[in-house]
Amino acid sequence: MKKINILDIYHNKINFNKDIIISGWVRSCRNSKLGISFLQIYDGSCFHSIQVIIKKNIIKNYKKKILKLNVGCSIIVHGILIKSIGKKQLFEILSNKIYIIGLVNNPNKYPISPKKHTLKYLRIYSHLRPRTNIIGVVTRIRNILFKKIHSFLFKLGYYWIPTPIITCLNAEGGGDMFNVFFNKYHKKNNKKLYKKNDFFGKKTYLTVSGQLTLESYACSLSKVYSFGPVFRAENSNTRRHLAEFWMLEVEKSFSNLYDIIILSEKFIKFLIKVVLKKCCYELDFLKSNIDLDIYNRLNKILLKKFIIISYDEAVKILLNKKIIINNNKSKFINITSDQEKYLVNNYFKFPIFIINSPKEIKSFYMRINKDKKTVASVDLLVPGTGEILGGSEREERLNKLDKSISFFNLKIEDYYWYRDLRKYGTVPHSGFGIGFERLISYITGIKNVKDIIPFPRTVNNINF
Ligand code: 4AD
Ligand code: MG
Repeated sequence: MKKINILDIYHNKINFNKDIIISGWVRSCRNSKLGISFLQIYDGSCFHSIQVIIKKNIIKNYKKKILKLNVGCSIIVHGILIKSIGKKQLFEILSNKIYIIGLVNNPNKYPISPKKHTLKYLRIYSHLRPRTNIIGVVTRIRNILFKKIHSFLFKLGYYWIPTPIITCLNAEGGGDMFNVFFNKYHKKNNKKLYKKNDFFGKKTYLTVSGQLTLESYACSLSKVYSFGPVFRAENSNTRRHLAEFWMLEVEKSFSNLYDIIILSEKFIKFLIKVVLKKCCYELDFLKSNIDLDIYNRLNKILLKKFIIISYDEAVKILLNKKIIINNNKSKFINITSDQEKYLVNNYFKFPIFIINSPKEIKSFYMRINKDKKTVASVDLLVPGTGEILGGSEREERLNKLDKSISFFNLKIEDYYWYRDLRKYGTVPHSGFGIGFERLISYITGIKNVKDIIPFPRTVNNINF
């Protein structure tokens, strides 16, 4: 007997009337008065579940065993694949043996009952929510995007660099970081070697970005990227912020702002095409449950070039539309996230790259422009989600980098190795970072990144 996945059936790999075994969980069950039970079983291999028919006269102990089954039980089904007489499905499994593996204690209290739950409710049960269709959909989309991100960059000759997670530097030059503590004393030859907080001999943190170490590789291997978790102790309880999220960072030497704008737009459009092509069941589900307009919305993104505007132009639009009232005598205006929302949701209604922001609101490593006021930066804002990408040309000129380090009151000695990259064969280079959860949120239309990452870490929330 062949043990198969439900996906094999939907891929037409299984012949009718041959013995097969599937294992999975009950999504729904119905028992008819005539002694026939209809179970929907899923095993995670694909979006679909499959109907299993259990007849009283075929299965031993039907009453004792089968009538005890509930949503959430795990079972192994032996049977044959048959053409379905019912209209709802093309095929089903006629079972000849059922092994019950795990029953559900107290079915009335099972948190993932078949009724529709809100995403907010499901977050309380982050350990059980993978059983729902919506989290299955997100997981499959996330999975294919992960794979295609690697293959897209691999084909273009980029090397994947696993940049470190523990660091002694704030790669963005500001913002709160999580400390890394070593809590135990460690004894060697009866000597206490490390004291609390003293494992590395320095204060250490969880990294906010792999960019600086990635630049070290770009300055020799030319085209590189990192893709992993980063950590920010941001006290913002919004639907766009996580304390732990995944970032894809791409770094390219001998390149400027426009090179990375072109690359990132091509990349994002490629990923949207992947989802449109490979995830039709997932998209159908999202269309009925999350965003009625999803196909239209995604296809429209592919039709036109993303808009590019300078920060200055963005400010002008906001002033014109009286979204910003300028009573501010300072040198620059800081566009708030609400004003960004206006630009992208109401004004352009399309993805926009905002380039050349004032140096004061950007990071120390960004290349200063000729006007000495702005840097060669880029942010990609998209409707609904806001910023999904940030990047820049990097300051490759040592004297200018040093000025910037002191402008931001950073300690020059902390950056000795980063400065070395400028001392020894420096090159113009640029890069960008995409927040993976925000990208998925944009594509799927699921508004809160807490529903995209498996176990969200946010302010006052670290269960699981
Ligand atoms: O704009 P950010 O801060 O840029 C960097 O970290 C650069 N070092 C990237 C680079 O040039 N290599 O972050 C990049 C992206 C943002 O555009 C956003 O999509 C996402 O990371 N992001 C977050 N996502 C979820 N939760 C948060 N708290 C996030 N902060 C940033
Ligand atoms: Mg940013």
